Amino acid sequence: MAAVKNSIDKVNLSEYFMPTYGIPSVTFTKGVNAELFDEKGKRYIDLLAGIAVVSVGHCNTAVTQAITEQAHKLSHISNYFYSEPNKELAKTLHTLAGDWGQVFFSNSGSEANECAIKLARKWGGPEKSTIISALNSFHGRTLGSLAATGQPAKWNGFQPLPGGFDYGTYNDLATFEKLVDEKTAAVIIEPIQGEGGIIPANREFLTGLRELCTARECLLIFDEIQSGVGRTGKWWAFQQYGVTPDIFTSAKALGNGFPIGACIAAEWVADSFKPGDHGSTFGGNPLASAASLATIRYIEENDLLSEAERKGTLLSALLADAPHVQEVRGAGLMKAVQLHSECAKDVTAKALEKGLVVNSVRPDTIRLVPPLTIEDSVLREGCEILKSILASVS
Ligand SMILES: Cc1ncc(COP(=O)(O)O)c(C=O)c1O
Repeated sequence: MAAVKNSIDKVNLSEYFMPTYGIPSVTFTKGVNAELFDEKGKRYIDLLAGIAVVSVGHCNTAVTQAITEQAHKLSHISNYFYSEPNKELAKTLHTLAGDWGQVFFSNSGSEANECAIKLARKWGGPEKSTIISALNSFHGRTLGSLAATGQPAKWNGFQPLPGGFDYGTYNDLATFEKLVDEKTAAVIIEPIQGEGGIIPANREFLTGLRELCTARECLLIFDEIQSGVGRTGKWWAFQQYGVTPDIFTSAKALGNGFPIGACIAAEWVADSFKPGDHGSTFGGNPLASAASLATIRYIEENDLLSEAERKGTLLSALLADAPHVQEVRGAGLMKAVQLHSECAKDVTAKALEKGLVVNSVRPDTIRLVPPLTIEDSVLREGCEILKSILASVS
């Protein structure tokens, strides 16, 4: 191994990776709650949490223990069989939805959305197959979820994409009223747009979409992949709005970094799937389900929903009067710092140099989605670093 490591250290790593991401400047080797350490031992405050994934902190002891114990018992069996953790997780997700829903487990957010799209089409039949989403949305990178993603720039080079998708304007109900008709199978919406810049839906928009979908007999799908699992202060952001979808999808924080996704649908919708219609080799396997159950239990036992709310308010207050800041928006610990100019990339790079991990979700917007378990003192320290960088930006 030593020989392999030495040779890796010497070569340009871009030889081995597809150039889908920029070339990273840091290799992280260790994480503890909201802190990361690189190979030289330098400490970083992590306000990104693996993009809203590591919600109960890096190397959370309860999650690590659950994965370890499960690995000693049973890792994988296929979905031809139940496992104890996967039965319990399905029941838990039903409860957290508000005592409704049947689940299909996947390995990622895109796959959870693929399931939602296929289910909506199966439910609608050949005459009712159109999916309406929002411009500036993000639903994933697989061909179906990419077609649902209302960002034409992300389609370039990958056409032809699956057909039967159309796009309204986020927070503009009238544009959806024009698009939703008898051929519509479903509307898919993020209650808070994540990759689009942390843009919360207006209450009237989501309420109006619910009424529209009911009146025109199509399904309402909420993509809760970034906003779910407690990040906004409720289990699901739709619970902030009091609007219930027919289907919703989850991933990211669901396994605190162990890959797992879920598509949860009302029984009368889920019934459209018959054995053989959809599947996944790994989805919800015992290891992933054990990680997810431990994550959910940890959130419950440590009251992290109210902590997300409280720390979100603290974060907004800490940054509200920072230089260059136009507004801090979002819910709970899903926050965007809107800047007056397009310097977010520069700020993000400087932050990394100073030991702070944040993300420029748009040229003029910094995304902050730290672990819900971040200590107040660490959050304050992170915000101080960010403020000092903003003060130095011209
Ligand atoms: C709202 C939303 N939907 C879907 C996805 C895709 O999830 P994944 O990257 O796990 O496929 C993401 C990822 O950022 C997301 O934020």
